[in-house]
Amino acid sequence: MRYLTVALAKGRLAELAMEMFISIGMDCSEMKEKTRKLIFTDEKNKMKFILVKATDVATYVEYGAADIGIVGKDTLLEDSRNLYEMVDLGFGKCKMAVCGPVELKGKLHSMPNLRVASKYPHIAAKYFQEDCGQTIELIKLNGSVELAPLVGLSDVIVDIVETGKTLKENGLEVLEDVVPLSARFVVNKVSMKMERERIMDIVNRFSTMTEE
Ligand code: PRP
Repeated sequence: MRYLTVALAKGRLAELAMEMFISIGMDCSEMKEKTRKLIFTDEKNKMKFILVKATDVATYVEYGAADIGIVGKDTLLEDSRNLYEMVDLGFGKCKMAVCGPVELKGKLHSMPNLRVASKYPHIAAKYFQEDCGQTIELIKLNGSVELAPLVGLSDVIVDIVETGKTLKENGLEVLEDVVPLSARFVVNKVSMKMERERIMDIVNRFSTMTEE
């Protein structure tokens, strides 16, 4: 039996995913020891777990370096990939939203040349340009996006809102919801052919858990 490799997004998603793998009998004890290792092996079940940056999970899966990935729907929407999205795991729930100062509520779509800052330029462009038919000026940022409207870099942002704490502490509000998000179970297309039985067994067990 060959190893099945699972790519996990470093951080909270990896911890929640690990709990799911443990509950179906996988041994993730090596991962629980807080080390800087990036590869963990479960010899008994012939599984390998690799820790990668959230935005790279789908890349590892698409190219077959990982058979399976646990990744946020945000990154799947931002970079469309050639892979199978199998299960909504129901954790890591949050939403993509247009956020900004409350004064702009209800006015966004009548503002010419609205300036939108985002870590997710494709999602932002799709929402405003395709869904709303509005031309906008997009500014790509890599983090601390809430700062942009505060210092006049943009009018609004398109960003992830989980608890809403970051917005609140920076005097911003959700102006419009774009899309709900959560963690997804994704599979490499060739792996699905070659290891269908083992992968579908995990998929089915995870599906049952998320339905409970
Ligand atoms: C994410 C997101 C928001 C924040 C939302 O940022 O971009 O800034 O979390 O969470 P909340 O609604 O619970 O406050 P992240 O922690 O990834 O940091 P970065 O975007 O600044 O890198």
